[in-house]
Amino acid sequence: MILVVKSGGESALPEWQACFAQVAPQLSLRWWDDPALDPASVDYALVWDPEPGRLAGLPKLRAIFGSGAGVDIIAADPGLPRGVPLVRCVPPEGTQRMGEFVCWAVLSLNKDARRMVIAQAASTWDWFEPPFAAAARTVGIMGLGAMGQRSAAMLRGLGIPVVGWSRTAKDVPGVETFAGAAGLPAFLARCDVLVCLLPATDETRGIIAAPLLSALPHGAGLVQVGRGVQQVMPDILAALDSGQLSGAVLDVFDPEPLPSDSPAWAHPRITVTPHVGSLPSRLERARYVADCISRYERGEPLPNVYDPERGY
Ligand code: NDP
Ligand code: OXD
Repeated sequence: MILVVKSGGESALPEWQACFAQVAPQLSLRWWDDPALDPASVDYALVWDPEPGRLAGLPKLRAIFGSGAGVDIIAADPGLPRGVPLVRCVPPEGTQRMGEFVCWAVLSLNKDARRMVIAQAASTWDWFEPPFAAAARTVGIMGLGAMGQRSAAMLRGLGIPVVGWSRTAKDVPGVETFAGAAGLPAFLARCDVLVCLLPATDETRGIIAAPLLSALPHGAGLVQVGRGVQQVMPDILAALDSGQLSGAVLDVFDPEPLPSDSPAWAHPRITVTPHVGSLPSRLERARYVADCISRYERGEPLPNVYDPERGY
């Protein structure tokens, strides 16, 4: 069986091959642009950003595996082969790492870590009295999927109250939940820190804009780990300047890399991280893909399949 790979650049292929050799030695891994590769020999693809139309040129393709949890770049291909399942990559290590990132980002906002970083860079002993315990501030998570639910559980483990919002109603232990457009205002009014873990869809594009930000409690924090197309940067900057937002941790941008002239880089209330919210190791991703392929070959259903109707 042949698995063609386009993730991490061609230099990552030897590591992918070593990982798959451990977990699925029957798979032969080939690089996406290998000139000797016969397109009709490819059974599976593991990709992050395939050029539009290329997947349609693999006539025997049985399933496409995204190398990330969000498959919006792959799904944006107008020529994406219909009827070939597109599987999101959600190994347990992926949700764990996201939960760790979200806890770190929430704590950094609530402990004002950005102020401390700026003071250290100036060799200044900027002593201040923290005004509240982190557990006194409710965190609201937009998107209660695999990433959102694990992050909620880990925040709860720190004693932090959590509320959540999703498209359809959800029952999440220890989390007060809200759903749909009707539930959004009541949800936002509860968020001392808002965490975005939504997929990029037509409905979520531009959602983090002035109307949403003004519905938060004054002085709220923002953690954006969804996708850059969801945020309107001038509106975030205006909310920070007015004090409506007290701080932001932004991990995703449109475009990426964030251009060097973006005002986000030097903003005293913004922490920029380079899209590192959650990247599970190649071995764990290989294990997940290998497990999916074994199940699929046995006739069992694939997990985490992208639904074109919902757009995620
Ligand atoms: P899931 O598909 O498991 O969950 C998506 C959640 O978003 C669901 O709860 C869904 O609602 C909700 N949702 C979708 N559309 C809407 C909407 N219009 N209104 C309200 N809620 C909505 O995805 P994951 O949790 O695995 O991942 C979420 C996203 O996180 C990814 O798509 C990606 O963009 C981002 N991500 C970022 C990473 C990073 O490093 N920064 C790493 C990994 C992921 P419902 O439950 O009703 O279906
Ligand atoms: C993902 C990501 O979707 O890294 O997995 O953004």
